[in-house]
Parts: sequence; structure tokens; C-alpha cells
Amino acid sequence: MILDVFRQRYGSDEGVRVFRAPGRVNLIGEHTDYNLGFVLPIALDLACFVAAADSPDGLMHIYSEEKHQSREWPAAEVGSLSPSHDWTDYMVGVAHELIRAGFPIAPQRLLVRSTVPEGSGLSSSAALEVSSALALLGGREIPPLALAKLCQRAEVGFVGTPCGIMDQYVSVFAREHAALRIDCRSLESQSVTLPDDIEILAVNSMVKHALGQSAYKQRTEECAAAVDAIRRMDGNLQSLRDVTVAQLERSMPAMPGIIARRARHVVTENERVSLFVNACQRGDVERMGQLMVESHVSLQHDYEVSAPELDFLVDTAIGIDGVLGARMTGGGFGGCTVNLLLQGASQRFRSTITHAYQERFGITPQIFDCRPSGGAGEVKNFERIPTSVPLSS
Ligand code: GLA
Repeated sequence: MILDVFRQRYGSDEGVRVFRAPGRVNLIGEHTDYNLGFVLPIALDLACFVAAADSPDGLMHIYSEEKHQSREWPAAEVGSLSPSHDWTDYMVGVAHELIRAGFPIAPQRLLVRSTVPEGSGLSSSAALEVSSALALLGGREIPPLALAKLCQRAEVGFVGTPCGIMDQYVSVFAREHAALRIDCRSLESQSVTLPDDIEILAVNSMVKHALGQSAYKQRTEECAAAVDAIRRMDGNLQSLRDVTVAQLERSMPAMPGIIARRARHVVTENERVSLFVNACQRGDVERMGQLMVESHVSLQHDYEVSAPELDFLVDTAIGIDGVLGARMTGGGFGGCTVNLLLQGASQRFRSTITHAYQERFGITPQIFDCRPSGGAGEVKNFERIPTSVPLSS
């Protein structure tokens, strides 16, 4: 139980409250959020839990169970800390933003337990940010959108990743049993009920190529360059979200090839999100699968954020009976694929993909069932907090 660990660590578990924030898998709409477009993630059972209690010694204590690492500072100094370039930055960054938003930080003892595998593209960072923010708030009210934006600012400003809003937003707003279609400009969202006869599985390639971080920033710059180029030809325009396929086709010949391809991914991906939501509402699972594969191809060739391991997992998956579609999910350059299966196909899928991946790369992939879970909040029933990362297959 998390309380036992807390007691062992800090001597007492009096007054402990636990806050949870889920990781996510994005069904479709990749690299569209920072272009103010559309995304369709679901929150996962995999989540980050932060157990918190007041600290009598004036210090802020943090401890990560997975990393077996701890850190402490005088609480009054947390607001002036600089980044240490490790996991603590997510928490300190959030503390900075809370202070800035008018929520002073009290001395606390915090214990972090996360079942979201790090570097897997399932958004372990947003889960840590959002659960930490709730723990640091300790019950003080904040509007959910302000919470999501504050956590995104912590990641952009303090951690230094120029990410969009998708991960933090879905971690806060997710609803059980449904995907969330988020408009990343208006920041409004709708629940999208998924057909009954499908299963969603994430396959972790277990690799994370170093290129990812710099490439992500580069892609944001390339998208900005595409907006500038299209604006010069076609008038007023704020982001690639505003570009239609026809407008894109007109402007492509005048843009450098690479910029044109980046823009084509974003414009067509936004369209695929709408088509996917429509197919979902009609229960057209074949079409949903096709759109996922189209998304992958576009990410692979136009946006160039895939990796040989991800391409192999997708190619293998779509050859397995009962698999409707597959694609890389998250930022790319490693991490997970998301797979859409007909109900009943998962056992065959798990064994076939595991053997094929082992044979090709010598790596055993982790496989996760993705059932849409609810968004972040306080956990009252401690019995429901998992003790460790769920095992694959
Ligand atoms: C990362 C970022 C998100 C989003 C995805 C790509 O997960 O944190 O904001 O941009 O990549 O869709």
C-alpha cells in the first residue's frame, strides 16, 4: 500500500492525501496540437500518483519510488530554484507556476509513484505535472483549464520542451469510456464514445532515439515557416489549423519541399481527426483503422518522426488477423504504437507481435490494454492504487 511506503519513508502517514493523473494514448491527431488543430486522445489506467502530507520541518521533500531518489529544499526557496535537468524539474516547474498564479507552496512531504512507463510516448511527464500540481494545491480549487495550461507552461518554460496542450489537457479532462476530441485553439472538447466491438492496445517499442527532443523543436519551427510561406501567398492566417487542403495544394509548389511536406502532414492529419470521429460515430471500425494507417504513413514520410522500430511494429500489426489499424502515437522517434483491434483478437496479436519484434530487434515489447479512464483527481480509496507497473502479456 502506498501509505506503508509513505510511513517507511517519512515516519508517519498522518493526514496523507493521494492525487492521481493519468497518462494517455493518442488515437489520431499527431503533431497537430501546437498547430492549434485537433487531437483525439484517451486517458489510460496507467497513471502517476502523488501522496502528500504537510511537513513540520519547513522543508519540501520529494521522493520517487521508481527512481529511488529524493530531494529536499526549504519550501520558501522552491520558487527560486533553477532546473536540474531531471525528473524533479516537472515538479519544481509546476511549483513555480503555482506560485506565479497566486498559490503559495507550503512545506510538504511528497511521494511519487508512477505506472506510466517513462519515454514511452504515453505522457508520463504530463501525468507527473498534473498529479504534482494537485498535490501541491492540497485541495485549493483551480479551474481545470487553468490547471492544464499551468502544467503545460511548466513544461515549456521550466523543463524546456515546447510541447502543445494535448497531454496535460486530457490528463485533466478525460472521461471514462470515451475518447476526447480536443480543439487545441478554442480549448473546448467533446467526449467521443468508441464502438463496443473494438480493443485498443499500445505496444511499447522500448526504444527512445535521442533525436526526438531536438526534432520536436525543429518541427515546430518548420510549421511556423510553413505558416509564413502560406500567409505570404494567401493572406491572413494564424496557424496550419486555418489551412484547407485546396489552399495547401496551391501553396506547396512555392515552398521548400521539406516545409511543404510538414504542412501537408498537419493539414491532412487535422482532416483525419474529423473523419475518424465521424467513422467512430457510425461504428465504421474499418475506416477508423484505415485512417490510423494513413496517419502513420504521413508521420513516417511527410513529418519524419517515426523510427524503424515503430514502422516495423505497424507493418507487422496490420498483417495480423483482426487488426483494423495501427500507428505510432505521441511525439515519435520511439515510444509506442497504438493498435485498433476487433474484440477477441488481442491474444493472437500479443503473441504474434511479441515474437516478431523479438526476432527482428531482440527486444521484448511491453503491451498495454488501453481502456479509457477518467481524468485527474484525488483518490479516496487507497486500495485502488496499483503497487507497481502492470506487466505486459
Ligand atoms: C508530445 C507533446 C504533445 C504533442 C505530441 C505529438 O507528446 O507533448 O503536446 O505535440 O508530442 O502529437
